[in-house]
Amino acid sequence: MTKTILITGGAGFIGSHVVRRFVTTYPNYTIVNLDALTYAGNLENLRDVDTLPNYKFEKGDIADADFIEALFKKYTFDGVIHLAAESHVDRSITDPGAFVKTNVFGTMVLLNAAKNAWQTNFEGKRFYHVSTDEVYGSLGAEGLFLETTPYDPKSPYSASKASSDHFVRAYHNTYKLPVVISNCSNNYGPNHFPEKLIPLCINNITHNKPLPIYGKGENVRDWLYVIDHARAIDMIFHSGKNGDTYNIGGNNEWTNIALVKKLCEIMDSRLNRAQGESEKLITYVTDRAGHDLRYAIDSSKLMNELGWEPSVTFEEGIELTVDWYLQNQEWLARVVSGNYAHYYEKMYANR
Ligand code: NAD
Ligand code: TYD
Repeated sequence: MTKTILITGGAGFIGSHVVRRFVTTYPNYTIVNLDALTYAGNLENLRDVDTLPNYKFEKGDIADADFIEALFKKYTFDGVIHLAAESHVDRSITDPGAFVKTNVFGTMVLLNAAKNAWQTNFEGKRFYHVSTDEVYGSLGAEGLFLETTPYDPKSPYSASKASSDHFVRAYHNTYKLPVVISNCSNNYGPNHFPEKLIPLCINNITHNKPLPIYGKGENVRDWLYVIDHARAIDMIFHSGKNGDTYNIGGNNEWTNIALVKKLCEIMDSRLNRAQGESEKLITYVTDRAGHDLRYAIDSSKLMNELGWEPSVTFEEGIELTVDWYLQNQEWLARVVSGNYAHYYEKMYANR
């Protein structure tokens, strides 16, 4: 079956893996990647697939309603997979407005465009909103996030994603727009922008720079290999139930300090350093404001209903990730040149 699918944010970390999966797995689909190419967007992430005949790129802002309306006239989309977002919690603390503009307003603009373009016939259409487990707030030592867990976002980032999720459900309830939502735990893997913990530490270990651990390093995250998230998105897009929500997680909880020590151990062996050498770079810094203690996902709905399960263990995934960064030093060097140095200086100077 042929389909034309709009993927937003396809030049970013997760979006690039989703675009790659769709253009290579479904040669009959036309995949239109819409991305504003913010600091986090990088077309280099797609260099291996961007000459395929079923791939198209459009540069634009999801919050630009005229542009989005024109895009929905230029193409007849059968589906939207919406990943474009401002995604970094620390940036949301310094500039919440940018998160409201893209994550809340931009999502509403896309929903409106899909509703207007599809309103005569919703048959076979689907608006898939990719969201985060952070909308559920912060767990204590026990428990897991379920699809039924009440929303309790605590950072400007998670508040903006929660708001966008509510708009998606409101469009489903009010206008019967066919939607599906997934809420995923922390991703890791190739092409991750090095403002986030894992690539930041790999980059800093490589260059013998301090590894900034917020607070005591006791916060817990549930890490999932990005390619397994892209596999889940494929399954949910094709087989998820209209109007439903699916949680996606790695069943793989790590405290930040244990995770960074694990990275140090792998990097020591890859860089032929004595074991324990990179750990000396660990530096405890001022905690993030309002830092969520623990996220952990129960993915049993996705596993039981759609048969998804992660394809790689964390041990395999983290080694693949470290090796990817070591083999793609030029990608990393280009990404951290320019504005990144300015960002890093500003974000870490007073910690
Ligand atoms: P990212 O920051 O790496 O990429 C975001 C992409 O969106 C970039 O290519 C950027 O250029 C683009 N973009 C930003 N603003 C835009 C705008 N106004 N118009 C068009 N494009 C715009 O993010 P990511 O980590 O790949 O996350 C993708 C999605 O997945 C987000 O919606 C995020 O909330 C969600 N998510 C991320 C994680 C994670 O661990 N990274 C976990 C769960 C859910
Ligand atoms: P991050 O990768 O920013 O993802 P999120 O905040 O969305 O979970 O951070 C992961 C964890 O690592 C989080 O608890 C904050 C912590 N962290 C540090 O300790 N130091 C850092 O330099 C960064 C970027 C994050």
